[in-house]
Amino acid sequence: MGHKHGESHKGQFGSNFGFLMAAIGSAVGLGNLWGFPYKMGANGGFAFLLLYLVLVVFVGYVILVSELALGRSTGKGVIGAYRALSEKYTFIGWMEVIAPWLILSFYSMLGGYCIKYAIANLGDLFGASWGVGGMDSGEFFGAFTSDMLQTVIFSLIFVLLTVIIVVRGVSGGIEKFTTIAMPALFVMLVIIIIRSVTLPGASEGLAFMFKPNWEAFEGAGWIRVLAVAGGQMFFSLSLGMSIMVTYGSYLPKEQNLERSALVIPFADTLVAIMAGLATMPAVFAMGLKPGAGPGLLFVTLQTVFDSMGAVGPFFGFLMYALVFIAAITSSISLLEGTVAVVMDRYIEKGKKFNRKTITTLMGLSIAVTASLVSLDGLGANGFPQFFGQGCWLDAIDLIAEGILMPLGACYMAIVIPTSLVDNEATLNGAQFKTKKFYDFCIKFIAPIMMVLVLLGQMDGFFGLGMFG
Ligand code: PFF
Repeated sequence: MGHKHGESHKGQFGSNFGFLMAAIGSAVGLGNLWGFPYKMGANGGFAFLLLYLVLVVFVGYVILVSELALGRSTGKGVIGAYRALSEKYTFIGWMEVIAPWLILSFYSMLGGYCIKYAIANLGDLFGASWGVGGMDSGEFFGAFTSDMLQTVIFSLIFVLLTVIIVVRGVSGGIEKFTTIAMPALFVMLVIIIIRSVTLPGASEGLAFMFKPNWEAFEGAGWIRVLAVAGGQMFFSLSLGMSIMVTYGSYLPKEQNLERSALVIPFADTLVAIMAGLATMPAVFAMGLKPGAGPGLLFVTLQTVFDSMGAVGPFFGFLMYALVFIAAITSSISLLEGTVAVVMDRYIEKGKKFNRKTITTLMGLSIAVTASLVSLDGLGANGFPQFFGQGCWLDAIDLIAEGILMPLGACYMAIVIPTSLVDNEATLNGAQFKTKKFYDFCIKFIAPIMMVLVLLGQMDGFFGLGMFG
């Protein structure tokens, strides 16, 4: 039986709490901490939030249940799992495993940035020479990101830490780390929120996030917003990326599948909103604008901490350490998704395998790609660029997040047999309470929404202007 292999060879979660922390750890990441608040603010505030919630409930939840069920019923990583459905679906597995491998390259670089920033703020706390030292945060960022040696070293440290955890296996590494790291992250986030919302002028940031503004929906604009919200939702819930299939394959049969699938999106969305509360009020209180992407996290926020006076470096350290934790609990899931596929190959051939060797080799391949992306220095170092993007990070993100991920999830909705999900959800006499809802959404709502999301993403990336 496939599942037996999953139990005896690759590993298994020891408890339902451990599984939840690992899955939520995967979901909560850079996407929540800077992606969500910024995208929400720029796309209609509360209106975006409503649309996002609808997508999480009608599409995210059902894809998540399907992926967990597929993993648990087959006991395999993503390629083996799709192949178990049918030989002709193997290509979906391939798409879903190439994407996390690609994403790890820039995710490791950004994780390395977090380590650098946590250290720099610590340096400021002790007045050391290796702090930001009152330098303009834009200049500090530019000097660091174009410093090839430093960025490569920090990226490699991040890759190494990821490998060290994954080498220790599912319960001894991933579960052990995330059961400590995730509660710690939550506490740190609460401390930052308290500081952020009590700053004078914080209310403007709250208005930026929560004030409904329907302008973004005008004309065909809602499709654009839907695409942004949909892309964000897939990325944030780690869907279409092999992870939830893989983690599902490590979930013991006694655990209730449906309940877990309900908790994960809830926690992920809660942290996304909390991340907004931690950052936006502070950004506005300091009279700054919520810029995009890495700029918001590393330039704007550093300026916020610089303007806080003596306590600034303390909150700065806390924030970047927190983002680092969020990033590494995601990167271990990305690595595990790819490692599981290789372990499956050995199991299929009836050969013995060594998790340590496979993880280390996979880690080495990522060390190479992460170094290359770091050398590009967000496009500042004059390297040739691809697909009309400004840096390698964006080009890789276009392929992985823009194409492979939504396409993989779209195929999932089409090919998953609902009876398989029903079987998994009703094991041990459990009731599949959302069955009717699930059947309806997976057949009709999810595929339609995903085609719209894909169209909107293509439109956005290639600047076709289809939707105004
Ligand atoms: N969900 C993570 C985030 O929001 O940052 C990123 C991520 C992790 C995406 C794992 C995909 C994935 F498979």
